[in-house]
Amino acid sequence: MAIVTVNASKSYDVVISPYILRNTGDILKDKFGVKTNCIITDETVDSMYSPVVVESLEKSGHKVVKYVFPVGENSKGAENFVNILNFLASNKLTRSDIIIALGGGIPGDVAGFAAATYLRGVKFVQIPTTLLACVDSSVGGKTAINLDEGKNLAGAFYQPDLVLCDYSTLETLPDHVFSDGVAEVVKYGVIKDEHLFNLAEMNLLKDKMEEVIERCVSIKRDIVNEDERDMGVRQLLNYGHTYGHAIEKASNYTLSHGSAVAIGMCMASKAAYKLGFSDEDITDRLVETLRLYNLPTQCPYDVETLINAALSDKKRQGEKINLVLPKRIGECFLQTIDVKDLEKYFEAGM
Ligand SMILES: NC(=O)c1ccc[n+]([C@@H]2O[C@H](COP(=O)([O-])OP(=O)(O)OC[C@H]3O[C@@H](n4cnc5c(N)ncnc54)[C@H](O)[C@@H]3O)[C@@H](O)[C@H]2O)c1
Ligand SMILES: [Zn+2]
Repeated sequence: MAIVTVNASKSYDVVISPYILRNTGDILKDKFGVKTNCIITDETVDSMYSPVVVESLEKSGHKVVKYVFPVGENSKGAENFVNILNFLASNKLTRSDIIIALGGGIPGDVAGFAAATYLRGVKFVQIPTTLLACVDSSVGGKTAINLDEGKNLAGAFYQPDLVLCDYSTLETLPDHVFSDGVAEVVKYGVIKDEHLFNLAEMNLLKDKMEEVIERCVSIKRDIVNEDERDMGVRQLLNYGHTYGHAIEKASNYTLSHGSAVAIGMCMASKAAYKLGFSDEDITDRLVETLRLYNLPTQCPYDVETLINAALSDKKRQGEKINLVLPKRIGECFLQTIDVKDLEKYFEAGM
């Protein structure tokens, strides 16, 4: 078992251990007392993991209610969000009761925003069950829903009170969902931790799951402690994401986030080397590592398509963008560029 303590606007533990779902009830009772717990989850995770969590909570004397929604990004829309708020109200949850997000980044994001807004904020526990949620979305306090105009356009910074990361749940993940999380793990390796990158490169992620999650969460903890509101150093976590978001958008969201970020990281590393910013060309090592996990590494779109996708939201001439570029494996830096120069950086990444 490993525990990482985050000291942001709220201080909380991320407990990383196999088979702790069955202890959820006692852990929450020790920390918060006996409460009403509302589990918010998707249908797939519900059928696999709600029974053990519910049984554990009830055994410890908690009251449990459960809100289950269909799998997929549509459930991060405003309609599901409002339905959740109404469900909480109709079950008379109070400010001292607990919302539990059980599942991947989608339950985490929408339940987190509900926890931030219902009664202006109630207790919130994350129980991540995808690799992406374990290493990324469950920690750091970004919560969000999607609007018609785009993804994650409404949300709040709202830190959880506890994260229970039971990585034995990752054994049931479909390979492609596991790989989406690997893209984020590789991201942490490139921005801050060469040893972590080496573990991915040697195909040891599954064998060293606890160490891998602890390293990722520790990096995120350090960054969030310093810059919770994403005004500076937190943007390092966007390595591969400026390119990746453009690719995701150009694909009309048919490419997964992890796949788009994998391609985006390769493009950023290629561009950094071609434009003279990095000590070495890390692209080959990156490509080979990502391929081990069946992640794509080559951009299927031309520069014009990517630029149109990247500039369709918000950005205007004269505006600045922070691009994350690698110097070497384990060290990245923020490069502030003018929107008009984005094309050059995309071109160099092809
Ligand atoms: N808040 C943040 O900081 C942050 C960071 C990164 C991504 N995100 C968000 O996270 C979302 C993506 O997260 P995700 O990839 O975890 O998506 P997800 O929650 O949809 O999970 C992916 C799929 O895996 C299934 N699943 C989950 N756990 C399982 C398990 N243990 N066994 C079998 N199947 C399981 C789900 O039912 C779903 O079909 C996006 O909406 C993204 O915007 C948020
Ligand atoms: Zn990401």
